[in-house]
Amino acid sequence: MGGVIRFGVSLEPQLLDKFDEIIGKKGYQNRSEAIRDLIRRLLIEEQWEDKSGESVGTITLVYDHTIRELSDRLTELQHEYHHEIISALHVHLDDRDCLEVLVVKAAADEARRISDRLISTRGVKHGKLVMTGTLSSEW
Ligand code: NI
Repeated sequence: MGGVIRFGVSLEPQLLDKFDEIIGKKGYQNRSEAIRDLIRRLLIEEQWEDKSGESVGTITLVYDHTIRELSDRLTELQHEYHHEIISALHVHLDDRDCLEVLVVKAAADEARRISDRLISTRGVKHGKLVMTGTLSSEW
């Protein structure tokens, strides 16, 4: 990794106050670290915009396993994408509800399609795709 470059940022005082308040709550030590994280997040999102680019993420699902055929349907879908869904965690939350976290590694558009199909399955109470990535080791 090379050195760092310092650059100036101009913004309205109210905006800066709000930014400082939020990064303080989040535990950032300084503005630079917060801005670095924002830039990394943007770069990861950009990577996901490249639809054919390899991507990695997690799909979180909460559903009631007592709904007829729902568990079977979700398992079928996961088997359909066994090349892309590389790991799965299942937690029995209570007597009815299950939490599943799936790790998906696929082209970005395929990952979204898989996530959409799972989350839109009738009976899934909550679902979310979280996109992440490794970025360059230099970042
Ligand atoms: Ni369960």
